[in-house]
Amino acid sequence: MTSPTPIADDDQSDALDVPPWRKRLIIGILILLAAAVVLITNRLLTDRFTETTRNRAELRLALYSGNILGDLQRSSVVPLLLSDDPALIAALSEGIFTATTRRLIAVKREIGVASIFLTDINGRVVGATDRNILGTNFRSSPFFVGALRSNDTVFHAVPRDSGAVDFTYARKITMDGRPMGVIVVAADLMKQERSWASLQDTVLVTDSEGVVILATNPRWRGKPVDAALTSSDGAGAIARALARATNWAQDPPDAYLSGRAVMRTDARTAHQGWRMITFTAYDSVRTQVNGVIALEIMGMAILAALAFYLSSRRAQTQSALALQESAELRKLNLRLNREIAQREKVQRTLEVAESSLAQSSKLAALGEMSAAVSHELNQPLAAMKTYLAGARLLLERKRPDEALSSFQRIDDLIDRMGAITRQLKSYARKGGDAVEAVDLRACLSSALSMMEPQLKNRALRITRTVPRSPVMVMADRLRLEQVIINLLRNALDATKDTSNPAVELLMTVGDEAVLSVRDNGMGIKDPSAIFEPFYTTKKQGEGVGLGLAISSGIMADLGGRLTARNANAEVSGAKGAIFDITMPLLGQKAKTAE
Ligand SMILES: Nc1ncnc2c1ncn2[C@@H]1O[C@H](COP(=O)(O)OP(=O)(O)O)[C@@H](O)[C@H]1O
Ligand SMILES: [Mg+2]
Repeated sequence: MTSPTPIADDDQSDALDVPPWRKRLIIGILILLAAAVVLITNRLLTDRFTETTRNRAELRLALYSGNILGDLQRSSVVPLLLSDDPALIAALSEGIFTATTRRLIAVKREIGVASIFLTDINGRVVGATDRNILGTNFRSSPFFVGALRSNDTVFHAVPRDSGAVDFTYARKITMDGRPMGVIVVAADLMKQERSWASLQDTVLVTDSEGVVILATNPRWRGKPVDAALTSSDGAGAIARALARATNWAQDPPDAYLSGRAVMRTDARTAHQGWRMITFTAYDSVRTQVNGVIALEIMGMAILAALAFYLSSRRAQTQSALALQESAELRKLNLRLNREIAQREKVQRTLEVAESSLAQSSKLAALGEMSAAVSHELNQPLAAMKTYLAGARLLLERKRPDEALSSFQRIDDLIDRMGAITRQLKSYARKGGDAVEAVDLRACLSSALSMMEPQLKNRALRITRTVPRSPVMVMADRLRLEQVIINLLRNALDATKDTSNPAVELLMTVGDEAVLSVRDNGMGIKDPSAIFEPFYTTKKQGEGVGLGLAISSGIMADLGGRLTARNANAEVSGAKGAIFDITMPLLGQKAKTAE
């Protein structure tokens, strides 16, 4: 048989054997790591982008307030300039205003203010860039009253009906120290406001009392900041922008606008205690951070996909390997099966051969036995023929006494032949039918009682040692008894000439049951020959040499054995022969069978 081919590399089987809990742990750790990376980058980027956004917002704030201041300043100088204008003074003093409006329109265009108008001393508008207000009387308006009272240019925020506010600079025009009229210039801050509308930021300007005067949401005008913010319905740039933004994992925002987080930046404007406030949505920050995080997550996803692809490829190669292995195993298995079948066949053949061998050896033994028996029987028969012929001759010669002795010899020979056939008959009885569980002690007792007549005739000491508990063996009781009787008979014969004849019967139980029969006779002359049929050292008529041969055959049939040895005189000081009957114990046999 060829040795099986190695099936798999150790490395690969190791890789396959990563315990599932470890795999799960690694995946869990990786997921945690990814989450941590996302959170940390979110935090850092949010901080950074918030900072940038805030800086930008502050910059924008400075720009806006600069623009407003610039507008206001530009507007503020116009009344001063126009108050010295000789044309206007002349018009006021003469009461002729035909050229005034045109003049004012020219100035407006040149300087870039919202509107300019001129009133006479009674507050009636006599010239205006907006012709609609020509003739309107502003006598009780605060800017008119204020301008007349002051020698300087006065600033006023004049709310209009439309909700818009006019930021006006007014100055009285004097001639020779006498007030002639008031020139009013409105700064165009609405232009600024309109320019904010395109921004995402919410921008508002409050006056010194905290009331909104300019705002990206016109509805906020005239309200305090807080009221304005809470009243907001969320419409506008901020709400649009914030609708997209999610607000997670960042510092608490500066303020909330329509429930959305916004960043508040404010600064004083160097004019009348005004403040400018911008609210920048975190939206831009979030958008940027989300962009980066999205990139990050995408990268991780690509990595995961790559890892998954690689592992699946490895699994594929492994499964291919496993398939190949299993194919090899199947082949091996097939080969083994074939081999087993072959071996079984050989075994059967062997069994057949063995049984036929046993048969033939039995036949051979039978042949041997038959030859021996027929030889043994032929001898007395031939002798008898001779004796008969002799006896006939003696009778013819009328010598009957001598003839009688011949008959006596013939009688002896018949006895001998009877002895032989008796022995053979006992052996010929088929074994196996009467096999049963028997107590070896009982067999010994019954053999002894059968031998009682012979034993009584002799001054023989018999000692018997047996275990207390039954010694159970599987045996044909009669044949086992016959073996014991044969041994006892031999022992009797062997101790014929011994002074203190003794026979010792010793039964022991170890792995097997052993019955030893020992005598203090002359010992065995030729231990190698005693089991052969018809081997005897006894005189004619005393033994035929079949006892041990038959006994040993019986023991072999019963699964036991019969052995013989001489007592070692030098060691034990004893002499004589020892015969051992050894048999498997019943319980032991059952155990072995299991
Ligand atoms: N107890 C014994 N002591 C000495 N020799 C023995 C003993 N038993 C048997 N033998 C020897 O073995 C021979 C064969 O014995 P056995 O087969 O019983 O035939 P037989 O008793 O007819 O001679 C005996 O003739 C004897 O020489
Ligand atoms: Mg004998």
